[in-house]
Amino acid sequence: MNKRIAVLPGDGIGPEVVEQAVRVLQAVAQKYGHHFEFYHSEIGGAAFEKYGKHFPDTTKELCSQVNAILLGSVGGPVAESHLLKWQNCERNSLLQLRKQFSFNANIRPLFLDEKLIELCPLKRAAQYGSLDLVVIRELIGDIYFGKHERSISDGIRSAIDVASYDEKQIYSVAKVAFELAKARRGKVTSVDKANVLETSRLWREVVNEVALSYPEIKLEHILVDNCAMKMVQNPWDFDVLLTPNLFGDILSDLGASLIGSLGLLPSASINTGSGFGLYEPAGGSAPDIAGKNQANPIAQILSAAMLLRHSFKMFEEASAIEKAVGSVLKNGFRTRDLWFGSGARSEELLSTVEMTDAIIRFLGDL
Ligand code: IPM
Ligand code: MG
Repeated sequence: MNKRIAVLPGDGIGPEVVEQAVRVLQAVAQKYGHHFEFYHSEIGGAAFEKYGKHFPDTTKELCSQVNAILLGSVGGPVAESHLLKWQNCERNSLLQLRKQFSFNANIRPLFLDEKLIELCPLKRAAQYGSLDLVVIRELIGDIYFGKHERSISDGIRSAIDVASYDEKQIYSVAKVAFELAKARRGKVTSVDKANVLETSRLWREVVNEVALSYPEIKLEHILVDNCAMKMVQNPWDFDVLLTPNLFGDILSDLGASLIGSLGLLPSASINTGSGFGLYEPAGGSAPDIAGKNQANPIAQILSAAMLLRHSFKMFEEASAIEKAVGSVLKNGFRTRDLWFGSGARSEELLSTVEMTDAIIRFLGDL
């Protein structure tokens, strides 16, 4: 198959890990006889330096002409947050990109391999074995895209952020969760704060309506605070977690700590109308380790696997990448983020590039 992929490395560790994901995609193309064309462009601070804008028109234009987008990360170090380059960087780049192409449903699979159980903070992990849940996060509504305002009155500064949802936004993402649950263990847990928020009460109402078309799926509602607690106490109890935008942001980072590292958590953002998708690791730009060849490329490489599965329907190819990643972990290959927690003797510490080399080697052996 011939496919065009926009590659937006962005900032921090983005360029390093994106480069590795592109290598893996090239290896897949070679192995399976596909032809992928990669078109690079800037986003975030990198775009600001060149164009004075975080999401320039050239990048927008490019993204509208490809079959899928592979993105690294955007944002800079906290110590530099006063610089114009980083002001509102995430909001002007990543959030605009999501909005521009209506990437309304965000899929974040949390999978803990048995071999990484030492990295899981939960004592009972060893008894339960691997962990496998998915966060489906609504991505272009909620408090992220409502009015954001600052004012000052009588010398007192105040700020306001408005959360809003309409039923269509909730309906579309809820369907993604129920459909996915059909192919998994048949359970959807919908997260809200219905004891306080009106948006959450609407959320619960609409999710209940969608559930009527899926009698075979078990639906539970849970308040977000309780959900955070349960995710730590008994994450094995969850299958598909359906969340509004803000709660999904927070809970997916909590989930990343359960699987050992944010460096393992991929993410797909899908326009549920057209199927067009954006693929990026769930973690940030990690400026502290940028340029050191230390970042874990796995989240980016697994995001590329999600790209193959969701955008190109290349199921075998996507599974091959996931299997290769599983093999490197089983064989004790670790990047620094996976290394500190465990320290077992049979492990080998690898750089970003070496980790990718190992994944490509296992891919070739499949
Ligand atoms: C994520 C990130 C983004 C978000 C930031 C960078 C705007 O944390 O993708 O989870 O909050 O959505
Ligand atoms: Mg986040």
